[in-house]
Amino acid sequence: KWLSVSEALTSSEAINKNIKVQGWLQSARIQKSLLFLDVNDGSSLKSLQAVMPIESESPEVSLGASVQLEGLLVTSSHPKQPVELAVSSINVLGSCDNLLYPFKARINHPADYIRQFPHLRARTKKFSSVLRIRNAASIAVHEYFQRKNFLQVHTPLLSSSDCEGAGDLFIVKPEGTKDASDFFGVPVYLTVSGQLHAETLACGLSNVYTFGPTFRAEKSHTSRHLSEFYMIEAELVTGTHSPGESLDIIMQCSEDLCKSIIEKVLTEKEEDLSFLHSSNKQTDLKEQLENMIKKEFKRLTYKEAVELLDSAKENFSFRPKFGENLGTEHEKYIVQEFGNTPVFITEFPASIKPFYTRNDTDTNTAYAMDLLMPNIGEVVGGSVREERFDILENTLKNLGMDEKYQWYLDLRRFGTVPHGGFGLGFERLLQVIVGAEHIRDVIPYPRFVGYCPM
Ligand code: 4AD
Ligand code: MG
Repeated sequence: KWLSVSEALTSSEAINKNIKVQGWLQSARIQKSLLFLDVNDGSSLKSLQAVMPIESESPEVSLGASVQLEGLLVTSSHPKQPVELAVSSINVLGSCDNLLYPFKARINHPADYIRQFPHLRARTKKFSSVLRIRNAASIAVHEYFQRKNFLQVHTPLLSSSDCEGAGDLFIVKPEGTKDASDFFGVPVYLTVSGQLHAETLACGLSNVYTFGPTFRAEKSHTSRHLSEFYMIEAELVTGTHSPGESLDIIMQCSEDLCKSIIEKVLTEKEEDLSFLHSSNKQTDLKEQLENMIKKEFKRLTYKEAVELLDSAKENFSFRPKFGENLGTEHEKYIVQEFGNTPVFITEFPASIKPFYTRNDTDTNTAYAMDLLMPNIGEVVGGSVREERFDILENTLKNLGMDEKYQWYLDLRRFGTVPHGGFGLGFERLLQVIVGAEHIRDVIPYPRFVGYCPM
């Protein structure tokens, strides 16, 4: 019977039975007249140890080879492994030249070394752990929203809108065409956010969410920016609530979502998580995550944040200025000051938030929020959307966008409703969870300025 490595290691029914497993060798070593193999198929952090006598006709096996093994699963005398496989037959599917293979057996290669081999790094313990955690986190997103009766919608990746108005757009056109409008009749971009489309769907279906890739042509070479990243975006119809109450609902939803994701990873991926925490030298992180799901996130106004930073003795590379966006170092400092509890920043100056944001005209602040997390800074951005037709039309006119965004105005023209939502950067949350210094280590294929090798 075929078993995955994880099943072989954990199923008590399989003990003393003949089983078949397959996978890649994490090590192959000879001791006396025995060959010891560690085989792993990606289903588990731990490998299954397989033992076979060396005979004259034994095939050549080495680290990295892919093999199929058959044999008796027996309890092991070694304290570190519950079972081992007494191999009766081996089939080498693919051999591996160890002189050229980049990884060595039983060595915990550093992340920046592994990163040089994007096509092979799924073979490493570190990266396969990350991807199992990423899978669990992704399932947690759907579980959370489905439990809360949000409808999953797929927003388009090709769009002629610039949701954030930041101009970080990748243009899409067929190879060989000169004019950006040749194909679609208008310039089309890879989406920077599914928000505007999600809004149209929420204004008809009530609460919705979308979870997919988004693209930004930011030329930032930082440890928290990618050109292609996954964003979870929720859009909530908040009904008759005041904008302040709407923002509370939106913040609470994003807080609950973060906690659900962290909790699932903590309970279901304990082994992978501990391994990553220790190899990332983040020994206190598990406790930090446990605290995060227990405590309420903090809330701070933008003004309070700037005052806090102003009084800080820290040597920031630039001092925060009222009316401007906070830098990553400022965001990290704020979270640290609150004992690594995540912090929501609210009441931003209206001038630094996009056209769709609901503003308070008396105070010139935006009903918007950023959620800051330890070691990373901003992980979530969200806001209440301007639901009042006249004010939105006026804003769009002033930006010269009114003609193009008539469809967006229609949402306010025909049965407008207070609504709002947020976008959560999936890779940034994963960084927080696994303690990865670099965002490039939590996505299978990182893309950034100057890098897209395959
Ligand atoms: O704050 P942002 O730009 O917000 C929006 O796009 C809204 N339209 C979302 C919404 O309300 N539906 O992006 C949201 C989050 C950020 O907080 C950050 O975590 C992540 O997306 N993010 C990036 N992650 C990796 N690489 C980048 N270049 C990112 N840019 C934003
Ligand atoms: Mg933002």
